[in-house]
Amino acid sequence: MLKRALESVLSEKESAEIFSAFDQIGDIIIVRIPDLLLGKKEIIGKTLLEQIKNANTVFYQSSPVEGDFRIRDLEFLAGENKTQTEYKEFGCRFLVDVEKVFFSPRLSTERNRIADLVKDGETVINMFGGIGMFSIMAAKKKKCTVYNIDINPDAAKLCEKNISLNKLAGSIISLHGDATQIINEKLKGKGDRILMLLPERSDEFLDSAISAAKKNGIIHYYSHIHADKKTLAPKLSEKHFLEITPVKSEILYSRMVRAVGPRYYQTVVDARISK
Ligand SMILES: C[S@@+](CC[C@H](N)C(=O)[O-])C[C@H]1O[C@@H](n2cnc3c(N)ncnc32)[C@H](O)[C@@H]1O
Repeated sequence: MLKRALESVLSEKESAEIFSAFDQIGDIIIVRIPDLLLGKKEIIGKTLLEQIKNANTVFYQSSPVEGDFRIRDLEFLAGENKTQTEYKEFGCRFLVDVEKVFFSPRLSTERNRIADLVKDGETVINMFGGIGMFSIMAAKKKKCTVYNIDINPDAAKLCEKNISLNKLAGSIISLHGDATQIINEKLKGKGDRILMLLPERSDEFLDSAISAAKKNGIIHYYSHIHADKKTLAPKLSEKHFLEITPVKSEILYSRMVRAVGPRYYQTVVDARISK
């Protein structure tokens, strides 16, 4: 339906590009538009709004995800001009502000994988927790305690709201600030499991993750890696992790999470450390 509607205003090749370049977050659509099609952005916005069930707003993403807060510039295209919405995933509810905080619906498989790995009774330290997506999914499934740290004040505030919305007060603690500083002040040696979802800067924060972990804690180390084929990316990440980790580490698992550019992949390595 949508493909056919786009083909009424764009060529077949152009509509295929747009078709694979938008995300729906609650009732908000965010679309990336190639430079050559920018002249048609209004009609693209109008078509997406008309065709997509439950969509009330369309934004064009005019910058990559960037800066300390990992957020993007958005330009309003169609519908109601608002940036807050509610997103649902695996029975959890999330208030999101698509302009002020990082958010990706494309990590849902990974969030579910981590929630399945967490065991009852664990303490999880989510170093770059954002609005609490991974933390809430884990605490909904397992009786764990999660420290959700984020340096973006809007993310930390939304995390608090999301904890209440999902009735998880007491299980998740939202902490606003720099992960290294917070770990040094109050979380050293506390984590059974450490999540490091800031792939561009994982190496810089690895010492802090190790310091946050218990003696034999597990670290979920996310990174971005160049590889000729996507099947090679997980092994290359394992090799890199083993080269840089300053402590004895056993690789438990690795996978390619998603493609982030041509021959460029986001990967995760699960490692049990010994210190
Ligand atoms: C890629 S996002 C991941 C957010 C969240 N885990 C999710 O999946 O929705 C990285 C997050 O790290 C936060 N961040 C960046 N530098 C940080 C730091 N030094 N300490 C704590 N959080 C930081 C950003 O504000 C951003 O929300």
